[in-house]
Amino acid sequence: MNMDTVKFNFKGDKSISHRSAIFSALGKGIFEIRNFLTAEDTMNTLNAMTHLGIRVEGDVHSGNFRIISSGRNPEKPEKFTVDLGNSGTGSRLLMGLFSGMPGIEATITGDESLKKRPMGRITKPLVSVGGVFEPIDSLPITVYGRKLLPIMHVESIGSAQIKSAMMLAAISSGVPLRLEERIPSRDHTENMLQFCGVHLTKEPLDNSPGFLIEMEPPYIIQPVLFDIWGDISSASFFIVLGLLNRKKKVIIENVLLNPYRDKFIKILKDMGANIEIIEKKEKCGEKGGDIIVSPSELRGINISPLDIPSIIDELPILTIAGLLSTGTFSFRGAAELRHKESDRISAMVNNLKAVGVHVQEFPDGLSFEGNPEFASGGSINGYLDHRIVMSFEVLKSVLEMNGKPGSLQIEGRQWVTTSFPDFFEKIQDFSDLEPKK
Ligand code: S3P
Repeated sequence: MNMDTVKFNFKGDKSISHRSAIFSALGKGIFEIRNFLTAEDTMNTLNAMTHLGIRVEGDVHSGNFRIISSGRNPEKPEKFTVDLGNSGTGSRLLMGLFSGMPGIEATITGDESLKKRPMGRITKPLVSVGGVFEPIDSLPITVYGRKLLPIMHVESIGSAQIKSAMMLAAISSGVPLRLEERIPSRDHTENMLQFCGVHLTKEPLDNSPGFLIEMEPPYIIQPVLFDIWGDISSASFFIVLGLLNRKKKVIIENVLLNPYRDKFIKILKDMGANIEIIEKKEKCGEKGGDIIVSPSELRGINISPLDIPSIIDELPILTIAGLLSTGTFSFRGAAELRHKESDRISAMVNNLKAVGVHVQEFPDGLSFEGNPEFASGGSINGYLDHRIVMSFEVLKSVLEMNGKPGSLQIEGRQWVTTSFPDFFEKIQDFSDLEPKK
């Protein structure tokens, strides 16, 4: 059959965009930024960095601009409040960063969802090296910057946010760091710091799958060009759309292909997905390339707990792929999913039940029987969570495109702007294009 092909390019990866703004503020000179993600979360981080004395030149909303950074004067006292909206990454990385800067008194706050998320995982290890926070468990939190002691930390959750907060605290305070990462997590902080000329070592641990990360001052962040690959987590929704619709192929160009971020593609392939990857030359210390997706018949999978940290943000959309597959779809070992923008296990379970799926909930996962002919309707609650809303929007679009428009009413469209402002435009374009006869 002759099939239409739809091409997509995505705004910059969210994790990398946050870090490009933060690292620019830590260096001295002119940083060029290309394809920054101009979504609420990352713009909040960029705006927060103006308190450290950066100047932004150019058309920020195009995603291509320059950051002129004077390198913060360590003696200058600064008292301010930053609202990180919905962003766990922005708030946790900045908490680490500010904690090591004497003279800073920064109150970090956020929206209803962020105020419910655990912050003790960042504050407690930093208190043990002299960090001062009030309160310590949840936002709003005031960070009183201090010269910290050397940081020694064992990270056993598999969280890149904790790892990065510890690394940023060490850098801002100019102290050595020795971090045992027992469960590997996304490595953008390591990659991008090295790309900026910071020396660090990362060696495999003897008795676990993780790494020992060590760094020592002086930390000098050189001005660079951050040319940011498209967001692979945003792409995941269109990859699943490409697999589940029966009419169109999808090509995703210039997207991040970091091995701790693209593992969901391997899982989809294990489910029978027809996906081809074309790697390109590294940018920003990160791998990237193009992805070609063809409609495929999928079968269910029991996802290994070992894969969870590398697919943590994609579990909701993988669950939608599982729903339209044959056989059992399940995952365990994902208790962390309960601490994201929503409790994503209960959000998925409740919404699946609302559309008539018999789903079993575990403290750390879920399990159900998929059905490629699934076509029921129901009311979906977004739970203040962009990825829950987008996952069910993909389901809705697939059902409509495949001629089985169940009646799904999805609440919470407004949350999507936190990470993917043009999501609805893109999904609409995809469903509107009629295939050539
Ligand atoms: C992120 C790390 C992940 C992820 C989040 C972005 C990052 O959180 O869920 O969306 O950019 O470091 P954890 O590392 O806490 O699991």
